Amino acid sequence: MRIDIITVEPDLLQSPFNHSMMKRAIEKELAEVHFHNLREYGFGNYRQIDDYQFGGGAGMVLMIAPIAKCIEKLQSERTYDEIIYMTPDAPTLNQATANQLSLKENIIILTGHYKGVDQRVRDKFITKEISIGDYVLTGGELAAAVLCDAVIRLIPGVLGDETSALTDSFQDNLLSPPVYTRPSEYEGMKVPDVLLSGNFPKIEEWRNEQAYKRTQEIRPDLLED
Ligand code: ADE
Repeated sequence: MRIDIITVEPDLLQSPFNHSMMKRAIEKELAEVHFHNLREYGFGNYRQIDDYQFGGGAGMVLMIAPIAKCIEKLQSERTYDEIIYMTPDAPTLNQATANQLSLKENIIILTGHYKGVDQRVRDKFITKEISIGDYVLTGGELAAAVLCDAVIRLIPGVLGDETSALTDSFQDNLLSPPVYTRPSEYEGMKVPDVLLSGNFPKIEEWRNEQAYKRTQEIRPDLLED
């Protein structure tokens, strides 16, 4: 999978891709991530990329022309399955969206900044808009890193144990059950007997019950779907 990220803060984005699972995916050549500094497509000596909004109001808006120049250059090199815009005024990212995106070959992610982008960018180029939650970040960079992490770990071959993504929270609309490791007792707090029993059908049943119970307590909305 190839991901092209268009951003005004490329340095802010680098680190998560140099660690853990994303680094591994890139090293194994299962994912390729390219950063494009929007400023390089800006106008004039100051490489202008934003301007005041028509109608007045606080905050600058990213202009269409620099973004169009960058996207059109990328599109002249290959075909993209999705052009995604990270923005809080969009449907919230969930596991189903991450699963779908992990099957794509080429995607562009555009990150907003300031007041966002000229609406005509969204109308002309964007095929999918994603928020990572009901709060506003300074820019879409961290949101793009979150999206990439959620997607890249699902690309077949990235996780060592192929089944482990399937048992993540949300894969079946349930939260994960509790997990324990050694010691089996800590300051009087014991690991549930069933997990030490070696009875795997019983363990599976217990985990399913716990997952359901946890979901009902913490995220009952997931059970409504
Ligand atoms: N940009 C700013 N806030 C955001 C959010 N919550 N999700 C995605 N992109 C954003």
